Amino acid sequence: MTDDERLALTIEIAQEAGEMIRDARERQTFGHRYKKGQELVTDADVAVDTHISERLASHFPDEARLSEELAPTGDSQQGDAPLWVVDPIDGTVNFAHGLSHVAVSIAWLVEGRVRVGVVHAPFLGETFTALAGQGAWRNGMPIKASKTSGLGHALVGTGFPYRRDSRPPLMRRLAAVLEHCQDVRRNGSAALDLCDVACGRLDAYYESVSAWDFAAGWLIAREAGAHAGHLYPCPEGVVEDLYGENLLVTSPGIHRELGELLRRADAGEISVG
Ligand code: IPD
Ligand code: CA
Ligand code: CA
Repeated sequence: MTDDERLALTIEIAQEAGEMIRDARERQTFGHRYKKGQELVTDADVAVDTHISERLASHFPDEARLSEELAPTGDSQQGDAPLWVVDPIDGTVNFAHGLSHVAVSIAWLVEGRVRVGVVHAPFLGETFTALAGQGAWRNGMPIKASKTSGLGHALVGTGFPYRRDSRPPLMRRLAAVLEHCQDVRRNGSAALDLCDVACGRLDAYYESVSAWDFAAGWLIAREAGAHAGHLYPCPEGVVEDLYGENLLVTSPGIHRELGELLRRADAGEISVG
């Protein structure tokens, strides 16, 4: 199968998943519970993951899968073999509250690099796609990251972990960004934050997330000309395209400056107010 055919099939599966998400919201019948005490998961998350997994298994029975609800410990360090990375609903809290920033995220990696990325937002009517080395698109039209060159005009997206005790250290970063950038957005879907950087709506995004949250959006942002990297070096032997710690994805003109600001904030070197 060519990469183009693989992308077309991935879009089809993501859009089927999107229909399931729309139906579930319309019927409002989904139950919910909390994983690890604080992490919301609905029946729809599991049903959509099951559908995507079955569809991928029927087309690619020999390819491994890492997916948030069904295979969260799937082997992400498996070297060169093909791997599907799936977040069935990115933005579960938004989904459960009736908000629109909700996405299906599907990435395909080979040789440790994301080669196909699809992020489909069923309530926004947007499908973001990318093929490594070939570009990024929104509903089939090419997209480009912004050309912002100074932090003062940069609109920055971020997010916060579910664990409340992991949030306080991030307040230093937040304060620094609010002081030095235009403003902050917390839209509740890491995959869509990355797509918003890819199409120039946001100038930057930083956060620590799981592989399924960012793998597809990371390729989409990179292919749209954004600088996709990490605030601190990726540990040796870890696949960078699956390493979600301290992501920093920005328009090219502000990557160095925002990176320095966030590292100085981490080090407690920025006084605010
Ligand atoms: C979450 C969203 C959110 C981010 C969280 C993720 P979920 O994913 O991407 O924006 O801040 O860290 O866990 O739980 O809705 O799939
Ligand atoms: Ca997610
Ligand atoms: Ca999810």
